[in-house]
Amino acid sequence: MSPHEQPLLSCRGVTRRFGALVAVDGVDFDVRRGETVGIGGPNGAGKTTFFDLISGLNTMSAGSVALRGRPLAGTPPHRICQMGMARTFQLNSGFDGLSVMDNVLAAVAFGRRSAGGWLLTARDDRAKARAMLEKFGLTDIADDLVENVPVLARKKLMVATALVNEPDLLLLDEPVGGLTPPEIDDFIALMLGLKAEGVTLVFIEHVMRFLTSVADRALIMHQGRIIYDGTPNGLSADQTVREVYLGTTELPGMAETA
Ligand SMILES: Nc1ncnc2c1ncn2[C@@H]1O[C@H](COP(=O)(O)OP(=O)(O)O)[C@@H](O)[C@H]1O
Ligand SMILES: [Mg+2]
Repeated sequence: MSPHEQPLLSCRGVTRRFGALVAVDGVDFDVRRGETVGIGGPNGAGKTTFFDLISGLNTMSAGSVALRGRPLAGTPPHRICQMGMARTFQLNSGFDGLSVMDNVLAAVAFGRRSAGGWLLTARDDRAKARAMLEKFGLTDIADDLVENVPVLARKKLMVATALVNEPDLLLLDEPVGGLTPPEIDDFIALMLGLKAEGVTLVFIEHVMRFLTSVADRALIMHQGRIIYDGTPNGLSADQTVREVYLGTTELPGMAETA
């Protein structure tokens, strides 16, 4: 990035207190267009709360967040989404009682960026949704109710619905939590595909194998602060990171990496 290029996302002093607890504590964080950033750290480190603050689902106690230089303070989550930031959730979300296809169609309708959206016809919407299902290998289950589809497909659907409106920035909260190792491999391939398309990705994940395979840049959060911001390869040698993981010589999940 040239020193003058504006970051896609810029966070300054982002803080969230819950009573006496400082869940997110003065986080400074910039994301450049095209970057892939993986955020790790122990349970309770403040990762999800940080995403909630960025995406407008929770309010900051202090600090600022800007998307393409535009401050987001006071902007409701659906507006932030329409401005080009999409996210997924740690727990599966979606409309369980609707089909896989209808979930993507609902996302298309929700994500319209402007009143100009009326130019798109229902047929365009379906074509767009169908292309997205194809890309994620979900075509065969397009008509199945979401409540009946397996967890891997639900996880993929969540990413597909987030991506269907071509966001500038995609935030994923523990995309592979609860998946088996082969399913994680499947997801890694999917993420590498998105990365190759130039999608800007910021994800939370404590499966280290996923983090190091997908991310160009790794952040570790601990007690609301960023204690590491560097290459994924540098993680295992970092003294502070090791100490956070309770004096272990290996990071959790690193053993199964090779
Ligand atoms: N709405 C809330 N009210 C009170 N405490 C909360 C709330 N949300 C999160 N916390 C606390 O903030 C800390 C960070 O939580 P979270 O962001 O979910 O961590 P992570 O995603 O890194 O596991 C935890 O101690 C959690 O209990
Ligand atoms: Mg979390």
